Amino acid sequence: MTDQNNTPSQADDKKKIVVSGIRSTGNLHLGNYYGALSKFLRMQDDYDCRFFIADLHALTTNPDPKQLHESVKNILAEYLAAGLDPEKSTLYVQSDVPEIPEMYLLLNMHVGIGELMRTASFKDKARKALGLTGEGDEIEKEIIGNEKSQARVNAGLLTYPTLMAVDILIHHADFVPVGKDQEQHLELTRRFARRFNSFYGVDYFGEPVNFNFGGEALKVPGLDGSGKMGKSEGNCIYLIDDEKTLRKKVMRAVTDEGPKEPNQKPSQPVENLFTLMELVSEPEVVKHYRDAYADMSIRYGDMKKQLAEDILKVTLPIRERILDIRSNDEYLSKVVRQGAERARAFAADTLKDVREIMGIRKI
Ligand code: ADP
Ligand code: TRP
Repeated sequence: MTDQNNTPSQADDKKKIVVSGIRSTGNLHLGNYYGALSKFLRMQDDYDCRFFIADLHALTTNPDPKQLHESVKNILAEYLAAGLDPEKSTLYVQSDVPEIPEMYLLLNMHVGIGELMRTASFKDKARKALGLTGEGDEIEKEIIGNEKSQARVNAGLLTYPTLMAVDILIHHADFVPVGKDQEQHLELTRRFARRFNSFYGVDYFGEPVNFNFGGEALKVPGLDGSGKMGKSEGNCIYLIDDEKTLRKKVMRAVTDEGPKEPNQKPSQPVENLFTLMELVSEPEVVKHYRDAYADMSIRYGDMKKQLAEDILKVTLPIRERILDIRSNDEYLSKVVRQGAERARAFAADTLKDVREIMGIRKI
């Protein structure tokens, strides 16, 4: 079970706990917005939400220090500009909560190197770190290397899922709204929770699940014809993009030579544009272009113009608020100070229990 179809129940006086975070590796794009942030926004009123900026996770791919700091501020401003409300949700920076790294050390004692190495995201990132291109490369051997090997895969990358599990379990989260690409990490989180409970003979951690308002987890496609919009793929539309930049990106999106016969299935790049359109445009607009594709009258240039227009309707108001909030250092630091205080209080309770359960006690 990965998806949760529950609708919020106001009758519950104890609200369900929601946790999610985004790594501070640049600016937020439409994939982050529709895959994660828009779900955060819809959950704020009905759940006990704790949203953070995963700056320790960002370190696994070695950003430069100045960039890291700037990214943390950008994402915080983008969270707030999109509508996250610090009075409703706990908003914090991961590294402001030292209980997280301590519990990460403790949980790592119950996590296998093998299961971490088999994680898809680890394999991808390890391949990149080692400069491997072929699918068939023996990645395990390359990772171990030899004394002369220069390339290395950092241990933080390997234990990424442990840290993510701690982010979630330290709050006893019920729901974790994330995009489809994070479901394997969530599966590991549940596995680690079960393992901890059974190893110590306790019923301490629950099993958090993704949350999609009854729908499927979402994968927002890229503009380059690829399956996923992502920072490292370089195919993103950012919330902060100005009008000119955004229009240019959309107009340059990859398409094909057009339908060759009526009612044919669109190629991947064209289907990607329809998928984006389904996110931002009115249903009649999508239908108009679907029909035009089916009867072969479609003009991709018109479709792209419309798509850019409809994306701008979503992003431009957010962009204006980002610029405003980003320059207000005092406000930003107040928000994270308050958030860290609250997050630490929750985290400290869990860490105390975990230490006790594991036998770390005062002499
Ligand atoms: P990126 O892949 O650009 O580095 P992150 O890994 O920091 O972004 O993702 C943060 C959140 O946004 C996660 O919940 C992730 O699932 C979601 N997300 C990122 N890209 C997409 C996408 N293309 N479609 C759907 N969700 C996405
Ligand atoms: N791994 C997530 C990503 O790349 C970010 C993340 C870190 C996260 N800790 C988390 C998401 C806890 C949800 C809950 O997008």
